[in-house]
Amino acid sequence: VLQLDMNTTGIKIQPTMYGIFFEDINQAADGGLYAELVKNRSFEFTEPLTGWKQPNTRYQSENPDSGYATVFNNPNKTNHNYLRVTVGNDKNYQLVNEGFRGIGIQKEASYDFSCLLAKGEVNIRTVKAELVDENNKVVASAEVKITNPGWQKYSVAMKASRTVEKGKLRLTFTGKGTLLMDMVSLFPQDTWKGRKGGLRQDLVQKLYDLKPGFVRFPGGCIVEGRTLANRYQWKKTIGDVADRELIINRWNTEFSHRSSPDYFQTFGLGFMEYFQLAEDLGAAPLPILSCGMACQFNTGELVRMEDLDPYVQDALDLIEFANGDPAKTKWGKFRAELGHPQPFNLKFIGVGNEQWGPDYLERYRIFEHAIHSRYPEINIVSGSGPYSDGEYFDYGWKELKKLDPQLIDEHYYKPPQWFLENAARYDRYDRSGPKVFAGEYAAHSGSGDDGRKRNNWEAALSEAAFMTGLERNADVVYMSSYAPLFAHTDNWQWAPDLIWFNNLGSYATPSYYVQQLFSVNKGSPLTEKQRLYASAVKDALKKEVIVKIVNVDGTDREVEVVPSHPVAVKKLSETVLTASKPDDTNTFGREHIIPAEKEVLIKNRKIVASVPARSLVILKMKIR
Ligand code: AHR
Repeated sequence: VLQLDMNTTGIKIQPTMYGIFFEDINQAADGGLYAELVKNRSFEFTEPLTGWKQPNTRYQSENPDSGYATVFNNPNKTNHNYLRVTVGNDKNYQLVNEGFRGIGIQKEASYDFSCLLAKGEVNIRTVKAELVDENNKVVASAEVKITNPGWQKYSVAMKASRTVEKGKLRLTFTGKGTLLMDMVSLFPQDTWKGRKGGLRQDLVQKLYDLKPGFVRFPGGCIVEGRTLANRYQWKKTIGDVADRELIINRWNTEFSHRSSPDYFQTFGLGFMEYFQLAEDLGAAPLPILSCGMACQFNTGELVRMEDLDPYVQDALDLIEFANGDPAKTKWGKFRAELGHPQPFNLKFIGVGNEQWGPDYLERYRIFEHAIHSRYPEINIVSGSGPYSDGEYFDYGWKELKKLDPQLIDEHYYKPPQWFLENAARYDRYDRSGPKVFAGEYAAHSGSGDDGRKRNNWEAALSEAAFMTGLERNADVVYMSSYAPLFAHTDNWQWAPDLIWFNNLGSYATPSYYVQQLFSVNKGSPLTEKQRLYASAVKDALKKEVIVKIVNVDGTDREVEVVPSHPVAVKKLSETVLTASKPDDTNTFGREHIIPAEKEVLIKNRKIVASVPARSLVILKMKIR
């Protein structure tokens, strides 16, 4: 029996309660959300021709004089490299780009090909751009006619005749001579909101459907970098994409279950795009910045205290960039020049990602003072390190509390049992202390043969049970996000993840549906007396009471819900998310763990919900 006091507890669930955590891990940005299809488009990877092949070059015996490419370096540019293509005999010299684990091509879809070209000393007349399948059969084609001697951007569109999962982009040069080339790019026209050079439509749609309250970006460990030189610097990620300085991704190779030595960040998805994304999703932006500490799991490099100023200035400038008046501030003006005169209404900023210890506190204090002296209204998210049941976590909380931060970020990746045992975790938290941002969490269930921990139902169900605890403690927990968000099936470094994708499509995991069901069913908490994992809220606008019940047992249960006031209706809607086995999961083409709706009749004023074994059940009842 679940006794429900229909009067709210007076606690308000924050609009930011359920949000998303985005990090460029598992190919989430380049080759993922950012819809660019050409890998190493500006030849800036450590090996400048990574991702490119020259099948008929001078090293091939059939046509030794066909041509070759040479890399030049212009030290005066942020992205230094460009290519000189030398065509020897007008017989099929080609450059082929392999894409990010192949190029996904959709039948009937149109693609924009573009590149920067300049004529060399002798004449090359055309560049033919073709999309080809795994067997080099042409799927789409367009031609660029070179008209100008100087650098110029050329763009052509082409339409695909077939769907191919792992295609390639092939460039063929006609004429004889030399040509300079840079920023070779290919985008689908069908991007989110049709923006040129934009984001992948299907992936943003999945985020949109989560109705997130905030978007935390850009990570994660990539905020920190393995070394400080390799940290995320937001100012280098705005403006013309051709001028955004690329760096190696912190998730390159070492942490890969599958080798990814070619994992770089082009920052085509940069801070302007993140702010825009948050706005599109109706979510609060939550940028996290480096606090002058490289990843403590790597070098742990520290900036000296006397050299901390530029880091602090980055935070102040970011607030001005997001909110500043274009007429009065330098960074507000820059935002307006980038096409967004309206402020982004930034309310939160994170100082450091997963940092801990005295070195963190020393740096945090300086940031806090500088930010709040100028912007007292900004809420600062401070780190507490990964949750370890250990000393430094408690030490961090104890010391941070003295500094009166608004939100403390907790991270926990733990087995499902931990989530069940910790569903009451926040019952014990100090109501007058800082608020909690459960900024990264996921239940980690058993591993498969490939070392990949599964997004199975057991994990998702334990997260649901845990989330009832977040919701009941909404006076302490103000924000939460599952992590990581995305993973490409052929290039992942961390599992489980909320959404899996390949070059053509994506699927939502059971954990995704748990997140979604909580996010779209918010309200103000009610009091329930029960021995289940449950929480109840009232949505005053919709005039609805919503009860969430999680049954982690292997047997079906009937739960009688006893509301303190009579309900206005004869039937309720019930949403059930369940699976037949704990290790069951979703995959491409088989997304069967999805919410199912049914109606429950109220007989003799009794509300009896069937709560199947291992299920999350959401009951919604209209009230007067
Ligand atoms: O989500 C994956 C990683 O886990 C994040 O980058 C980091 O913050 C945490 O250690």
